[in-house]
Amino acid sequence: MRLTLKVCRQKDAASAPTWETIEATGLSDGMSFLEMLDVVNDRLTLEGRDPIAFDSDCREGVCGCCALVINGSPHGGHRGTTVCQLHLRHFRDGETVVLEPWRAQAFPVIKDLIVDRGALDRIMQAGGFVSVNTGGAPDGNAMPIAKAAADRAMDAAVCIGCGACVAACKNASAMLFVGAKVSHLALLPQGRVERDRRALAMVQAMDEAGFGGCTVTGACAAVCPKEISLECIARLNREYGLAMLKGE
Ligand code: SF4
Ligand code: FES
Repeated sequence: MRLTLKVCRQKDAASAPTWETIEATGLSDGMSFLEMLDVVNDRLTLEGRDPIAFDSDCREGVCGCCALVINGSPHGGHRGTTVCQLHLRHFRDGETVVLEPWRAQAFPVIKDLIVDRGALDRIMQAGGFVSVNTGGAPDGNAMPIAKAAADRAMDAAVCIGCGACVAACKNASAMLFVGAKVSHLALLPQGRVERDRRALAMVQAMDEAGFGGCTVTGACAAVCPKEISLECIARLNREYGLAMLKGE
């Protein structure tokens, strides 16, 4: 199997991007997309050429590092799938595949397909945590949680912070990411104590990082590899509105 890659290459944030066409040969349809890039980079390195810079870590869909736009879609456009879980059987032999980095003002390009997603970390530092006293682990039955609330909290907690929602949004909004983090904690009793301060601080950090506003197009939820629901954005708006009314 072979593919023709059209890769957006950029030396650093200050350089202009250019397009390079690279042939990927000797592939099998059982390879993951990242394994294909490894094969291509091995060859480029042996030829003395600059390998394609891309990010990855876990390669099993849990870390959120493999941030790539493939043929115009963040993570390649396959439902509930990160790039590292995408396999070449989804592509036609000889197909031309276009690769670009996440594009958002808050995600400056580091090199080629790698962007700095530190803005999402700064939002988490502003409020994506629960303050607890140190000491022994509390008894598991000391704080009963309704099954429905636990399920909804866990549905939000699966967000891996990849930033695909931002890359897909025409406003480069991070509302789905922040909505998932705020929802996960607001739905659990441990997170309710700080819910007002959290919602205000995380939204402020999101605005300061340069993410855009949400106009509810739903593009974020359509590409989210963890299928985070737009309900999380509704819950974030509710949490934020209530905190504002309370004058926290
Ligand atoms: S909401 Fe989905 S797309 Fe956005 S950061 Fe979380 S997992 Fe990624
Ligand atoms: S490399 Fe970790 S989610 Fe893809």
